[in-house]
Formats: sequence, C-alpha cells, structure tokens
Amino acid sequence: MCGIVAYVGKKPCQSLLLEGLKRLEYRGYDSAGIAVIQDGALRLCKAVGRVSNLEDKLESIGNFSGTIGLCHTRWATHGGVTEANAHPHTDDRNGIAVIHNGIIENYAALKTYLQEKGHVFKSQTDTEVLAMLIGELYEGDLEKAVQAALREVTGAYAIAVMCEREPGTLVVARKGSPLIVGIGADEFIIASDASAIVAHTARAITLEDYNVVRLTAEGFRTSTIHDVPVTPRIEQLELELQEIELSGHSHFMQKEIHEQPKALRNCFRGRLDAKDGRVILGGLADHGKQLTNLRRVVLTAQGTALHAAMIGEYMIEDLAKIPSIAEYASEFRYRNPIIEDGTVVVAVSQSGETADTLAALQEARERGALSLGVINVVGSSISRNTDAGVYLRVGPEIGVASTKAFTGQVAVLAMVTLFLARRRFMSADQCADLIRALETVPDKIEAILAQNDRIRRVTEKYVERDNWLFLGRGYNYPTALEGALKLKEISYIHAEGMPAAEMKHGPIALINEGMPAVFLANRGRQYEKVMSNIQEVRARGGHVIAVATEGDEEIRRYAQDVLYVPDIPECLSPMLTVVPLQLMAYHAAVLRGHDVDKPRNLAKSVTVE
Ligand code: G6P
Repeated sequence: MCGIVAYVGKKPCQSLLLEGLKRLEYRGYDSAGIAVIQDGALRLCKAVGRVSNLEDKLESIGNFSGTIGLCHTRWATHGGVTEANAHPHTDDRNGIAVIHNGIIENYAALKTYLQEKGHVFKSQTDTEVLAMLIGELYEGDLEKAVQAALREVTGAYAIAVMCEREPGTLVVARKGSPLIVGIGADEFIIASDASAIVAHTARAITLEDYNVVRLTAEGFRTSTIHDVPVTPRIEQLELELQEIELSGHSHFMQKEIHEQPKALRNCFRGRLDAKDGRVILGGLADHGKQLTNLRRVVLTAQGTALHAAMIGEYMIEDLAKIPSIAEYASEFRYRNPIIEDGTVVVAVSQSGETADTLAALQEARERGALSLGVINVVGSSISRNTDAGVYLRVGPEIGVASTKAFTGQVAVLAMVTLFLARRRFMSADQCADLIRALETVPDKIEAILAQNDRIRRVTEKYVERDNWLFLGRGYNYPTALEGALKLKEISYIHAEGMPAAEMKHGPIALINEGMPAVFLANRGRQYEKVMSNIQEVRARGGHVIAVATEGDEEIRRYAQDVLYVPDIPECLSPMLTVVPLQLMAYHAAVLRGHDVDKPRNLAKSVTVE
C-alpha cells in the first residue's frame, strides 16, 4: 500500500526521492506527492496517477533543489483519488509537512477538536488531521510536537515529518506500519521498505512500535513517543540490488514465476535430511515439547497466503494427524474464537505486514495460543510478533500477484507438517520418502516452465472469454482458488475457483458453449471423481483445460487441452499444478494488454483492515 521515502542530508534530494518512490511502485498506489524545504520554504507538488505524472509536473513547475524532503505514493482509504487527498499533507500555520502510511482511527474526533480551534482542512484524509495536530501542538520543537501528537492518536502509522521553521530536521516514527531508517554518510534515507534504500546504504535502524527518530545531516536521536531515550538497533539490510531489478525479464511476475526452482532450493537448503528422515527447522527447535503436545492448529492469512494455508491445513491433518483449520484472518479475529490449551496459531504471510493477519495473530496470542509465523520478509511486523517461525527464504517478491511466495509457503508448510508428524506417528522411512519427493520439486517446476510457449498458446485460445471456472478436489481445491485469483487479479477476467463437486450446486448454471473450465486433474485419491465432473462440463458445452499427470493419455479423451505436470505425491502436487495456472494468468494479462506488475486497485501489502 502507501509508500514512504524521505531524506535528510547534504545533497539535493529530489531525484533520490523519486527514484526511491519508483522502487515502491509495486506496492500499489493511485497518486503521488513530494515536498522539500528549499531556501527555508516548503515546496510541494502532487499528482494523481503514476510517479511519472508527478515527474512531468515537477518538470513544468521547476524541479526542487532542497536537501531535506519527503515523498509518498498513496493508496486511497479516506477520501477519493484526488490531488488534494494525495500526500504530503501540511498544517495551516507552521509549514509542517507529513507523509503517512497506516490509518489514524480516531481522526474524526481529532478533526472536530481541531476545527473548533479554527483549523481549516483542505482534504478528506486522516493524515491531514495528523499534520494539523502536530501543528497545533508545535512550540518550536518538531520532535516534541510529533511525540505529543502521537500520544493522542490511535491506529497505525509510519510517518515522516518536517517543518519550515526547523529546515534541517526530519522526524520519523512508526507503530504497526513498517519504516526503515537507512544510515548513509552525512545523510539518512527513510523508507517503508528496504528496496528504496539499498541502492544507497545497507546500514539501517529498524524501529520498534512507538519509536520516534529525530534526524539531521549530523546525526540522530531515538526515543519513544513519551520521550524515553531508546538505544537503536542497527542492522545490515540483506537485500541485494539485483534481487529487485527485472534482470532481462519483461515483468517482475514473470521473473518470479521463473525463479521458483531457485527460490525453493534456497527454501529447502539445510532443512531436509532424507538420510535420517527428519526436517531441521531451527526456528521451531526451542518449542519442540509444546509442538509435540499440540492439539489443534489454526492457520490464518489473507489472499494467496490463505490458499497456501488451506493446503497446510490438509497436510497437517492428513500427515501429522492434528485437527487443523485455515481461516481468513479478518474473520478469525472478530468472531470471538475459542482458543483451547494446546492450540498453535500459524500466521502465513509473504510481507509479514498484512494488517488483518497481524491483528488475528495478536488476538490469538492474547487468548493463550502459541504463535508461529510462515513469513517471507525478515524482521517484518508479524515475524516480530510470533513466538517462533520459519522464513520462506524465496527472496523479495515484487510482482503484486504472488507466485514464488505461494510455492514457498506450501513448501514451508510441508516441512512444518513433517516436523510435527515425526513427533507423532510418522516413521522415519515415511518421512524420508516425502523429503526425497520434496527435493524433486525444483527440477519438476523447471520441467513445467519449459512448457511456457505451449501454455501461452493454450491461453491465447481462451483469452477473449470473460468468465472462467477453476475446479479441483482435495489438495488441489485450494490450487483452484489460487488459479482463479491469479487470473482475476491481473487480467481482470471474472474467474471462480471451487471444489469440483460444488459446481453442481449452482455454478453449473453458468456453463455455456465454449466457457473455459480449468480442472486440476492430476493423479490422486479423487481422480475418478474429477473425471466425472469434467464430463459434466463437457456435456454442457464447456471447454476443459486439464492440468494432468505426465503419462495420463486417457485424459486427452475428455479435455480439449491438457497441460502436463510431473508425477509427485498428491500432498505436494499443488507446488507443481499451480505453475501452469500462474503462467496462464500471466499470459492472459499480457495478451489483454494489462500492466502485469501494477494491476488496478490492488496493493502488494495490505496494511489496513
Ligand atoms: C494482498 C496481495 C496478495 C497477497 C495478500 C496477503 O492482497 O495483493 O498477493 O496474497 O495481500 O499478503 P501477505 O503479504 O500477507 O502474504
């Protein structure tokens, strides 16, 4: 969602700020803005749409030359997509400018209070309320005014603030939204994610919730919102610049689909021991006893991560024999869930910042659950709020439509399942067999990727159709959901995923001549049943695209198009069957002329509820 970049130092900063903002474009946004203090005066420019629109506008009004500045990409929450609502927001008295990621929940009450004090608002945003509040409390010390204002607000924020009256001082703070302070030579680059910083420095301060940092070109001071000094945690950012570049690919999504073999090899490295039939997960080692005595597993997530969590649910019940359920975090947290002794809650999230997932996790912890994270982004909010966890290690995912994170999440959940299963009923031999099968996944994905051209040709046949079905059973029911989600996210084609059996209970009414129905029809316990469902679609004129197991010639009699995946134990098959669906979605979006990496209305990381 919203992206933040700020700078204070000795160099003119406009180009650095805009370059950082472009690195954050993948997060999803609908307007952009920049402010710098130039010759003691605040200069501001905002534009609706892409960062390139902002650049054009700056060009026409004359570029800014100050050495302190803020810029922002906004994903609309409070108020429509307009220039007035774009950040930075300013107060009406002191030349204070604020950029903000998150939501100020009590903004309406604060706005009334400020209006009564005579402040006049120009936007509908919660952020302008924060800017005015800081202005109202300002008595010549920006750091103190920010601390005081943040003591009054509830909600989530990552903010950067500057003020005409203290032209060399930048104040930043966070609670619940990510913010990293990069430390350069005589300069600081602040951003909501490391990708906007790594081109300049790898040293960074990682802030805790309620931390405030006052920065000048000469140095910094860290405190809490109650002005208690804090010793900063300085870390090396692990992100490499080439990991966030396209490296010859047309889109990040394409790059990430093709990176999956490498990403999974990295995910498995040092964790699989086929010889002894065991999985080594350092992040869970300290909780061995609690995990042996588990009575229930609740997996919670949103979006693609929920589909991976559903596969985890199936695996944990099937192989580790522990009652499990996967649930939308947004539902779980508000339905007054019962957490009994022996419950573990597993939060699955690529970004580790999804607001609902974080909130569900906190709710479960308060009710006494042990919490685990299956997260990609190291040091993210969720990973810092769990008792233990396993990182995906698939590298940064930039494409809004999640691909390698999904296969990474399923891979980690498979390892967690084996870790738990070995503590209960699974023999070392059984575990060793599954480990050996897991080790084949990267090579098998490579074999599927080699069929890219054929998958594109199949997609081309159906790309004009506006309604698609995705159907699967058992382990591949969540894959069907994921296939449908991928297609609608980036190609804007209406697609529904469902258990194949459910089709007869309503959706079958949609099937008409030539409607594409994608079946996950690889070999498994319910293969015969899937075949029956395929015939039901064919009988009504639907066109079947089957994802089937190599060597299954029989299926050609039923499906118009067959995309083959290598054989693998059924529980691991979603890591293979999803790959043709990812490629179909990608090609459909490209063929329809859409911007694959910047799909309309979507955000990579949804940091508001
Ligand atoms: C957004 C993204 C999805 C993602 C979901 C959960 O909706 O567009 O791709 O699956 O958030 O994100 P997380 O970072 O928690 O995995």
